[in-house]
Amino acid sequence: MKTPLQLIQTGSAAGTKQPALAIDRLSKVFHMEDGYLNVLQDICLTISEGELVCISGPSGCGKTTLLKLIAGFMKPGGGTIRIKGRTVTRPGPDRCVVFQEDALFPWLTVAENIAFGVRQFMGRRQLNNEVDRYLEMVGLGSFGKYLPREISGGMKQRVALARVLILQPQVLLMDEPFGALDAQTREEMQNLLLSLWEKLSHTIIFITHDLSEAVTLADRIIIMTRNPGRIQADITVPLPRPRKKESDAFHRFYRELRSRL
Ligand SMILES: Nc1ncnc2c1ncn2[C@@H]1O[C@H](COP(=O)(O)OP(=O)(O)OP(=O)(O)O)[C@@H](O)[C@H]1O
Ligand SMILES: [Mg+2]
Repeated sequence: MKTPLQLIQTGSAAGTKQPALAIDRLSKVFHMEDGYLNVLQDICLTISEGELVCISGPSGCGKTTLLKLIAGFMKPGGGTIRIKGRTVTRPGPDRCVVFQEDALFPWLTVAENIAFGVRQFMGRRQLNNEVDRYLEMVGLGSFGKYLPREISGGMKQRVALARVLILQPQVLLMDEPFGALDAQTREEMQNLLLSLWEKLSHTIIFITHDLSEAVTLADRIIIMTRNPGRIQADITVPLPRPRKKESDAFHRFYRELRSRL
């Protein structure tokens, strides 16, 4: 039999929603032969489930380093990173990364690339169905048999996206994934990402140099400064969705953001 206090505690714990990502006083130092580089200092950041957050800032401010720490590819110097309350100590299936130049396996077809991470968990029929589903989802329905060298840069990034989405990660980490694409393909990929995000409700952390891309995509924009890398601003984007790049409201907010930075 529970006492009233236990009942209250149980109730409040059950009602508390863990943030998708909680970073607390994170720091990272790189040691080199001739000294050290204080690359990240005192980073605190909380991201709710289903949020799409863009991180921007000058080259060298530590954006990729921050992403690699969240991914568990390297260890922090100090502070903690928690995904849904669990401290990150190594890479895990709850986090997936898409980089700018995604290295697809060149000897595998598009479908085999997408299947790669899940192939040992499914029978052949289920695997084929799942791969077809994700091929359709990223608009590559009829390209499953192509090799990476036979498709365009934008299509490769679609494969890269399908390859991580099929793993159903809680947090999707994207490091300038559309940075190498031409303007039109980039816009198509932004629209694709937004439609997938609306459908699948992932938490997304998206690094971009391009403020206009950040305003197009983000619920919140985190701006970092360098030497040492810190968070300078955490700005909620007040524009309703879908956002029109040509609209006055978009331009006004973009200009305001630029002038603040
Ligand atoms: N493994 C490493 N060892 C030593 N220094 C590193 C290492 N990785 C990154 N750095 C340095 O840390 C700083 C931050 O690098 P990082 O790649 O995180 O920056 P970034 O913000 O992603 O830059 P960009 O916008 O150019 O991609 C840079 O000065 C870089 O040279
Ligand atoms: Mg980088």
